[in-house]
Parts: sequence; C-alpha cells; structure tokens
Amino acid sequence: MSKFVEAIKSIEIAPGGMKAIEVQGHEIVICNANGKFYAIQRRCGHMNAPLDKGTLDGEILTCAMHCAQFSINSGEALSGPVPSNPGEETLPPGMMRYLQNVDKLMEGVHTHSIRTYPIKVEGGSVMIAL
Ligand code: FES
Repeated sequence: MSKFVEAIKSIEIAPGGMKAIEVQGHEIVICNANGKFYAIQRRCGHMNAPLDKGTLDGEILTCAMHCAQFSINSGEALSGPVPSNPGEETLPPGMMRYLQNVDKLMEGVHTHSIRTYPIKVEGGSVMIAL
C-alpha cells in the first residue's frame, strides 16, 4: 500500500479552485470542490490537455480544449468532446475546413476515464497516495 505524502497546504486552493502539481513524476491536479479535496491525473482522458486549465463546477471538471467532462470523485468520463460546430457563424473558408477536419479526426478518439488518487487532509496539509 502506498503511503501518503504532502501535496500542498490546504490554504493554497480556495473552494472551486484547482492547482497542478508534480509528485514523483506524476502530473496531478488537486481540486477543492466546496471545501472537499480531490486528486486526479492532470492529463485529459481525451487528448492529454492539462485539466487544470479547465473549469470546475462542483465535482465536474470540464476540459478547456474540447469540453469533455469528468467526475473528480470517480475519474469517470461523463461526456466526450463537443464538436466545434460553428453553426451559422461566418468564418474564413480555411478556418471552416480546419474545424471540420478536426471534428472528423476526433470522431475516432475515445475519451478515457482518468485516474484519481487517495487523498486526505491532516493538520492543514493535503496528502495524497500515489
Ligand atoms: S483534450 Fe480534453 S476534451 Fe479533448
């Protein structure tokens, strides 16, 4: 069984916030969801974007790159990427072709659930086990 190591001080992340850290080669995001802490892998289960650049709404994290969503509690992929869908917007033809090509390429990319890490708070320290 892995032992817990200090990741951050709990005061480093306000409720609703996230912080990327690296511990023993693991890229991890610590999330503070309304005062409860979670630890997840930093890389998106879709195409590896850094999840700390996304948005946190309760226990749901939305990736900034293509908007796939993950549970920070279980790591489960809740939804896949959202197509760019420029709709009626007027974009330069080259940009439209690029977005259509990206959407087509993403159709074959599976969104995997992400790893979560055991976490606990002791004496103002957020501790994780690898
Ligand atoms: S890289 Fe995160 S949704 Fe595509």
